Amino acid sequence: MLLHQGYVELYHHGFLHIKSAALLCAVGLGIPSAIHRCGGEATISDLAVKTGVHPAKLSYLRRLMRALASFGIFDTDSRKPDDTDGSSVVYTLTPVSRILVNDGDMSPLLRLLARPATSVSTFFAMEAWFRDGGATTLFEMVHGGVPPWSLTKNDASYNEAMNDACAVDSGFSMDAMLEEVGGKGIFHGLTSLVDVGGGHGAAAMAIARAFPHVKCAVLDLEQVISKAPGSASDGTVQFIAGDMFESIPPANAVFLRHVLDCWDDDHCVKILGQCKRAIPTRDAGGKVIIMNLVVGYGPLENVVKETQVLFDMYMMRYGGAEREEQEWKKIFLEAGFSDYKITPILGFQSIIEVFP
Ligand SMILES: C[S@@+](CC[C@H](N)C(=O)[O-])C[C@H]1O[C@@H](n2cnc3c(N)ncnc32)[C@H](O)[C@@H]1O
Repeated sequence: MLLHQGYVELYHHGFLHIKSAALLCAVGLGIPSAIHRCGGEATISDLAVKTGVHPAKLSYLRRLMRALASFGIFDTDSRKPDDTDGSSVVYTLTPVSRILVNDGDMSPLLRLLARPATSVSTFFAMEAWFRDGGATTLFEMVHGGVPPWSLTKNDASYNEAMNDACAVDSGFSMDAMLEEVGGKGIFHGLTSLVDVGGGHGAAAMAIARAFPHVKCAVLDLEQVISKAPGSASDGTVQFIAGDMFESIPPANAVFLRHVLDCWDDDHCVKILGQCKRAIPTRDAGGKVIIMNLVVGYGPLENVVKETQVLFDMYMMRYGGAEREEQEWKKIFLEAGFSDYKITPILGFQSIIEVFP
């Protein structure tokens, strides 16, 4: 019995790469939006018509949908119990596919996470990287020695994929996070905030909307700031091109969302050192607000635990890490901070307030 269990699991794990590729294909074909346009339920022939799948591929589309439904991406309901070809099966949206429908569309995030050239391919070089004694990151090994934040400068499509993914991810999660922590005083009492590595400003704009009296700015690299859409420069948020390792503009608080996990401990201590120079003392209201994972925090469900460790491996290829509390504490103390407070949010992430 145990042998059989292992045998099934081996197949299961060996096939997992098909799961994200199948989801990416469904998003590319526009299946979630097609179901939405069909009033929330669609048959295979409805889907073929709406997505442009060739009629010769109907039976393959049914198999793709059966797989995705078994992963929980779609729900199914058969209108005819004796249906043998699946033509009466109706597909509906689930919480995952609902956020992939046009409005509030999170597909740029999926496209980045499962991007063949900069994500998937890097992991197939992992074994060679483990055998190599050099300091080159897995990402650099696959990209001819170029680190991710230089590749965004040299490769316009990667820059766009990164900026679009970050914009939808922070746009989606910030309002939910602000609602969740609203009463907990994390942003109360601030008069100014700089979002360091803030991309196209979706997080800073959400904070500016929720706390209009807080003067918000975004600092990011030139190749990111120069591509920020016009609507981002409506005056509510100031955009600054610069390098966080060189200097950070002064503010009451520095906000760092999904930035420190891109870096190893030594780089994090340097970034946090620049943050400390930018903010006033704790008594004067100074703090750094980090939005990231704290591995081990959050609900104990398997999907949360697995997502946290997969996130860690995703960052490992940059030389970064998702950290446990003790690992965070070590870099805070090394950077000269005295105290911190963790508030778990959004199921698998946390806000960490770090005080000078
Ligand atoms: C993973 S993205 C996170 C973006 C955004 N904070 C979010 O949560 O969506 C990391 C950001 O750090 C920026 N970054 C990398 N190196 C930087 C540097 N030296 N100075 C300023 N920003 C930098 C990148 O351009 C990118 O926008």
